[in-house]
Amino acid sequence: MAVQISPSILSADFARLADEAARVEGVADWLHVDVMDYHFVPNLTLGLPVVEALLKTTSTPIDCHLMIDDPDRWAPGYAEAGAASVTIHAEAAKAAVRTLRAIRAAGARSGLAINPATPVDPYEDLLPEIDMLLVMTVEPGFGGQGFLDIMLPKITKARGLIDKYGGEVWLQVDGGVSAATIERCAEAGADVFVAGNAVYGADDPAQAVRSLRALAQQA
Ligand code: DX5
Ligand code: ZN
Repeated sequence: MAVQISPSILSADFARLADEAARVEGVADWLHVDVMDYHFVPNLTLGLPVVEALLKTTSTPIDCHLMIDDPDRWAPGYAEAGAASVTIHAEAAKAAVRTLRAIRAAGARSGLAINPATPVDPYEDLLPEIDMLLVMTVEPGFGGQGFLDIMLPKITKARGLIDKYGGEVWLQVDGGVSAATIERCAEAGADVFVAGNAVYGADDPAQAVRSLRALAQQA
């Protein structure tokens, strides 16, 4: 499993997004963009126009995490715009298979996210439809929250299901991932690590990405 780091711009300066993206370019594997709609989560961030603007300014592939109601309606548009990965929430999708297929058909990797209270087992049958499973390690909506240790068994279980399936599905963790928690996530089987505060709260975001990668690799 190759370790990949996806810094979340939720913790970056929204007035200087192009500069903030540039600070991790060439070092980060992905740029994680959290789309929130005030409905699926109690916070509002940004949408397609800002993603389109970011796509013009950075060469880092964009990893869109859609924390929105009705992803069936909106997700394909992010893939069509050029996001390299688009993740929808299982709790919000009414036609997950159709939407995951539409994301792939538009040329992006398809991702399925599950909240802390959502068990992973019911989604085993969807593994052929996805390129990445996202196990949330905080309740979605805000950066800078504490890592939920109680999610570690779910990461282990998800890794087991993916290995049993045998296809290439990445296992992403998002929420409270930091130098203090990333090794536990890697040991449990995660291979794609989102980090907001741990990267953009650091004086040197690029160095923070390197440090996180080294910790995950040695786990
Ligand atoms: C939270 C978002 C995360 C957030 C993580 O709902 O999905 O991507 O940016 O932030 P940290 O790493 O600070 O917990
Ligand atoms: Zn996220």
